[in-house]
Amino acid sequence: MIRVLFVCLGNICRSPMAEAVLRHKAALRGLQGAIATDSAGTGNWHIGKPPHEGTLGQLKLHGISSEGLIARQMQAQDFEQFDYIVCMDDSNEQNLRRLQGGKDAEILKLMDLLPDEPLREVPDPYFTGNFEETYRLIDLGCEVLLDKIVSEKL
Ligand code: 4NP
Repeated sequence: MIRVLFVCLGNICRSPMAEAVLRHKAALRGLQGAIATDSAGTGNWHIGKPPHEGTLGQLKLHGISSEGLIARQMQAQDFEQFDYIVCMDDSNEQNLRRLQGGKDAEILKLMDLLPDEPLREVPDPYFTGNFEETYRLIDLGCEVLLDKIVSEKL
């Protein structure tokens, strides 16, 4: 089982959307038993909460299940339990590297998988209100991420 953890700041907008999108794409390729998805926030404000209604709206619009999405905070032990840790912006990456200490884990930024996309971070829709843009970037990024996982690990 390949384990993928998406990380953002609050774990209610971007990373739970990415968790649901990758889970959906994996199932479309018959890989639901091969890839496990999860998400976490570096912050602790929303622990135990469901995703933001903007994220739920985009998932519903695109026919993607939001089942089981509950916010939690990133833990140091997550670095040992996931094959891929994929974050949304530079600030997430800095927070992760601080938390990582000496632990050996590959940290990716989702937009590094889309080198031709002018935006280099997934903008935070909690502040921009633009959940359509978030979905567009996450959809594109997760397609490339899935190709990468299949070619590297499956
Ligand atoms: P997310 O968005 O990191 O994409 O989940 C945010 C959600 C909540 C907060 C910040 C960002 N907040 O400050 O509460």
